Amino acid sequence: MADHLYYRDYLALDTILSAQHPRSRQQGKAAHDEMLFITVHQVYELWFKQALYELDSIITIVQQPYVPEHEVATALFRLERIGEIFRLAIAQFDLLETMTPLDFLAFRDLLHPASGFQSLQFRLLEIRLGLDDETRVLKGFEQSLDERDRAELQAARSQPTLFGAVQAWLERMPFLEVGAYRFWEAYRGAVIRMFERERRAVLEHPALTDEEKHRKLQQIHVNESAFHALFEPERYEELLRRRQRRLSHRATLAALFIMLYRDYPLLQLPFRFLDALIRLDHRFSLWRYRHAVMVNRMIGRKVGTGGSSGYEYLLQTTLQQHIFQDLSSLASYLLPPAEIPPLPAEIENRLRFAVEVHG
Ligand code: HEM
Repeated sequence: MADHLYYRDYLALDTILSAQHPRSRQQGKAAHDEMLFITVHQVYELWFKQALYELDSIITIVQQPYVPEHEVATALFRLERIGEIFRLAIAQFDLLETMTPLDFLAFRDLLHPASGFQSLQFRLLEIRLGLDDETRVLKGFEQSLDERDRAELQAARSQPTLFGAVQAWLERMPFLEVGAYRFWEAYRGAVIRMFERERRAVLEHPALTDEEKHRKLQQIHVNESAFHALFEPERYEELLRRRQRRLSHRATLAALFIMLYRDYPLLQLPFRFLDALIRLDHRFSLWRYRHAVMVNRMIGRKVGTGGSSGYEYLLQTTLQQHIFQDLSSLASYLLPPAEIPPLPAEIENRLRFAVEVHG
């Protein structure tokens, strides 16, 4: 006879719904809002689990030596799903904030020294996305973890990351040089002309004082020299060494190429994928910021139960712990569409391939 599946069993509700144990009640000082506090954390952990599940499959797809187009589409859908999970995760802080700081103080002391700092799944997400240890604001966060969690983190460190898989995928992009054509040479000329135009506009501006002109010209100079480093492998290596960049030279050029020529059929999906990576990185930062703002409301400038400086520490993570910053920063070097150098016919034809096959 076929199994008679029952809703409660399928969803393991006996387990999930019996997993809320407010400490304040156990200790005879029941604080009403501790139930919400626990439920919200548990729901977060479930979403982190789902996000890790999606992330794992995305990495598996992207790290293949050849990624078929339909699989890029699958990876993109899943990436966008993680983005939506984080949209929900950000909104959930509004619900938690129906608990006032005073309500929280009714049980906060019972939580020491546990903290979200110890969320293994959150750390796994950071690591598998590609946050490296040097980028972290606080290096020793693992000391607050128990042995089991530390072992899991250690194992995660040897697994491939999304950052690494995307970098290798970009490095394999074939269109950067074909015959005598070098993408970066054609492009570099166009951007130099853009800087020259900006400089002339400043010099000829009727309303600027000499001092203002000087300041603006200096800024253009700074932008321009950062831009030139993109085209000189040795200077670029120096940026990598100084950790001003993380993405390899080749991968960065490929990303720029995709962003500029994204309207060609073959580049549309890769472009949307890169864009989704940037948006996910921003969503993650927004989660960090929203959490920090909530922490400021709940505990002001008190130190965290996990032992960090609390709000200040969390704000710093928001500002510094990006993963795909190198992709976002390419926007400084984009040109108005009318000024993008045309591609040689041979490359154009290959980039239209998708239309010829499917159109
Ligand atoms: C009243 C609510 C909350 C307060 C006052 C609070 C406070 C803090 C503080 C002060 C930290 C810094 C580490 C420390 O010293 O403890 C922290 C870290 C963290 N919290 Fe919360 N938190 C709250 C709710 C949440 C919720 C609902 C989650 C969801 C899972 C969460 C997840 C995290 C994570 C993942 C970290 C580590 C962040 C990092 O190191 O980048 N927190 N929290």
